[in-house]
Amino acid sequence: MKTSVISFANKKGGSGKTTITLNIGAILGDRGYRVLLIDLDPQAHLSYWSGVNTYDEYFSIYDCLLDRCPINKAVYTPEHNLFDIIPASNKFDKDDLKVLLNFTKPENRLNRKLMLYKKKYDFVLIDTPPTFALMTLGALIASDFVIIPILLNFLAIEGLSQLVQNIYKINYLYNPKLKILGIIPNQFNLRSNHAKKVLAEIKENFDNKIIFPKLRNDIKLAEAPEFRLPINLYSKKSKANMDFNLMVDYMLDVLNNEV
Ligand SMILES: Nc1ncnc2c1ncn2[C@@H]1O[C@H](COP(=O)(O)OP(=O)(O)O)[C@@H](O)[C@H]1O
Ligand SMILES: [Mg+2]
Repeated sequence: MKTSVISFANKKGGSGKTTITLNIGAILGDRGYRVLLIDLDPQAHLSYWSGVNTYDEYFSIYDCLLDRCPINKAVYTPEHNLFDIIPASNKFDKDDLKVLLNFTKPENRLNRKLMLYKKKYDFVLIDTPPTFALMTLGALIASDFVIIPILLNFLAIEGLSQLVQNIYKINYLYNPKLKILGIIPNQFNLRSNHAKKVLAEIKENFDNKIIFPKLRNDIKLAEAPEFRLPINLYSKKSKANMDFNLMVDYMLDVLNNEV
């Protein structure tokens, strides 16, 4: 099986990028796929939730991008063993950024680092930060696909059309193979009537095939990070676990039809 590299992107914080990256990763891992998660957000929420101990000294994705360690030294396996992860670090500072920008084409570095290493995995899932555009650009250059989680409210629609424009630009300028694999409607904290109206509007504007099954609001998702467990281990019978499994079924279906 050829490796699929998938970025989860949306500049809007709180749209569910981290939640969705981690739980899709865990479910794919549970189904026997080899999965690598990459945390590009210096807030390092994905790293924390995955169970990597962020208090100890460890190598992060930034160390790897800065040539401070080879990529395999920055890969960690949580106890549950459902995926591997390359963590982020909140220690990345202005000096580090200067060093990164001094490399030729810093935006291509992630792609180059992953080129050979990714072959160990069926899926590489990349969680991107809300700011720090260079990291998101790097992620999209390294990816075959992008998935956009979106909160179903009217303001989010405007953000969505901007994001799609940007993806087309990156597609044209840097990475012709990049495709939008899906939009994931996240109904977090919204009354369903409003959410339904917004979803209808999105469906008018995009090919229905790329609209994934939605993720409902589920308090279990807000609780799980404290225990550092993905939803399929934290609460197998939850709504969220059911939604994520349908989402993964759909994603695998779409990917099968790609090749
Ligand atoms: N469907 C949902 N149900 C309940 N809580 C959710 C849901 N989606 C996201 N959350 C919560 O919302 C917050 C933001 O989600 P997160 O995945 O961190 O978004 P992002 O990475 O896009 O900033 C987190 O506290 C998360 O637990
Ligand atoms: Mg996040």
